[in-house]
Amino acid sequence: MTDRHSANRSAPAPRSAEEPARLSPPAGRSPLLVAITGATGATYGLTLVRRALEAGVPVRLTFTNAARRVVPGETGKTVEEWSQEFAAVAEASEAAAEAASPTAAGPGSGAPPEPETRKAPLFALDDVADIGAPGASGSFRARGMVIAPCSMGTLARVAQGVSGNLVEREADVCLKERRPLVLLAREAPLSAIHLRNMLAVTEAGAIVLPPVPAFYARPRTVEELVGHTVDRALDLLGISPAGAFRWGAEFPGAAATEPIQ
Ligand SMILES: Cc1cc2nc3c(=O)[nH]c(=O)nc-3n(C[C@H](O)[C@H](O)[C@H](O)COP(=O)(O)O)c2cc1C
Repeated sequence: MTDRHSANRSAPAPRSAEEPARLSPPAGRSPLLVAITGATGATYGLTLVRRALEAGVPVRLTFTNAARRVVPGETGKTVEEWSQEFAAVAEASEAAAEAASPTAAGPGSGAPPEPETRKAPLFALDDVADIGAPGASGSFRARGMVIAPCSMGTLARVAQGVSGNLVEREADVCLKERRPLVLLAREAPLSAIHLRNMLAVTEAGAIVLPPVPAFYARPRTVEELVGHTVDRALDLLGISPAGAFRWGAEFPGAAATEPIQ
């Protein structure tokens, strides 16, 4: 895992008067905040959490109440079962990193761990009603946040600064602290209200990354299709999972088997 933010923490200049200054996210073991909302496509968020943990990046995950309803319907597992699975993934990732480099500062860090996060577990589940969770404060050194998938309801509340639950508050904090906020906003078709809200969060500094599939990597399975979008989202947070497809690094015509038709 490489961390392109670890070497340079200076704030780049804004590209235009409208664009807020963007700070590089804290490096080391600063946790990534992830939220899964009640839009369809829970697999995007679930895959993202797994890949981040496998890359050694600490994750604090929150499900909205609507996600608690949608996730079992789409995946056959409750959010508690997913959380147990992620705790096991985190444990295996820590063990593998320890075995590979017992004296290293931490998996995937490339830098000494931040003192306040040195002993933090790799995976934590937060309650959406707990507005006192770590990510609710700007003083907590989060690396940034991904909401995947992001419902139009959560998008609207983030766009208006309505911090009515932990997910909305964490997103609001990322915007005010100028930390990366990536929204995999999912709805189709889109109304003028949805589009205006996407523009509003973009102007406030968020990145809207609709989970629209790309085919140039010649995906052979739905997992590969989803994984490509997830890797693009992680890229925006400075996290580069192993095996991510890179145009130019691998000629897509060289795929060994037939892509999805
Ligand atoms: C099966 C299912 C699929 C849904 N898909 C979407 C969707 O793709 N996009 C969306 O904005 N809302 C979708 N919804 C509606 C949201 O779950 C609903 O608006 C909810 O209030 C969002 O709450 P949240 O933003 O707190 O998660 C879906 C609901 C269900 C039951």
